Amino acid sequence: MVSSAGTLAELEALKVQCLGRNGELTGLLKLLKDFPIEERRLLGQAGNALKNELTAMFDAKGETFAASALADELNKISADLTLAPYPFPQGRLHPLTIASRRMSAILSSMGFAHASGPQVEDEFHNFTALNTPEYHPARDSHDTLYVKTAPGAQKWLMRTHTSPMQIRYMEANKPPLRVHALGRVFRNDSMDASHSPVFHQIEGLYVDKNVSMADLKATLAQFMSALFGGRVEVRLRPSFFAFVEPGVEVDVRCPFCNGKGCSVCKYTCWIELLGAGTVHHSVLRAGGIDPEQWSGFAFGMGVERIAMLMYGITDIRLFYENDIRVLSQFPQ
Ligand code: PHE
Repeated sequence: MVSSAGTLAELEALKVQCLGRNGELTGLLKLLKDFPIEERRLLGQAGNALKNELTAMFDAKGETFAASALADELNKISADLTLAPYPFPQGRLHPLTIASRRMSAILSSMGFAHASGPQVEDEFHNFTALNTPEYHPARDSHDTLYVKTAPGAQKWLMRTHTSPMQIRYMEANKPPLRVHALGRVFRNDSMDASHSPVFHQIEGLYVDKNVSMADLKATLAQFMSALFGGRVEVRLRPSFFAFVEPGVEVDVRCPFCNGKGCSVCKYTCWIELLGAGTVHHSVLRAGGIDPEQWSGFAFGMGVERIAMLMYGITDIRLFYENDIRVLSQFPQ
């Protein structure tokens, strides 16, 4: 009977006819009440078993209709559903983002808070407060890009380094201070394999009681070791930056050849990485901090330079050309 149903609708009708409230089997089961108790029990059991069996048959047949309806739908689709999908291009982080985040995370883990400042700066924060007054020769080395303003109006420039953050942070916070800043800086340089008019720096500032060059050296050694892995040795060489006294150029023992000499360190075994020094007293004063009570150190380095070392890149322009064949190679 069940197998004679040709459609889902016919099957439903049959089910009602048989098992529905006024269905045939239901009618028969209703008659049971007129039988003596013994027979009623036996017939009742048989009747219920039959009812369950029929219900299961109707359900099973119903499922085959549903499955073949689905198969019909799928047959109407001409696509091959077993075909592997096209590879889906996924976005990736830029190598400079990876390197910056890594350096920033290391400094954060060493207790340096994060701060940021404007890319368009005034002369006071970029130079004057950093002990580089007008006509100071140190300004020349920066090849500053000035923003065009009306004659006599306040002068604006594209910051030439991240050091103005030192002043802005000292103005807004009381010592002791431990902070780092990261961002884009601008110089009127032409583009070549190792220069770009726009690049990135990461800057650190530490102000506390009795801070010395030894603190600076230990901090940088720990930072470089975390960045390059293993224990990286650091060397300080005297240098000049107007806002630190003494100022130093910092080299790391080449982490690529372990003192054997290689093309990365040009067989000198040392790599020049950053500028640093103990904060000049006039810079502390410009930031509203009493240099009789407090002292500090500062350091600043180029993100591109570090990223080039991390990845063995020899031409800075590769970072800016957005060639997907280059950008897709960096481990995320
Ligand atoms: N601001 C310097 C530069 O751009 C780097 C530096 C930062 C040096 C902090 C000393 C201390 O070259």
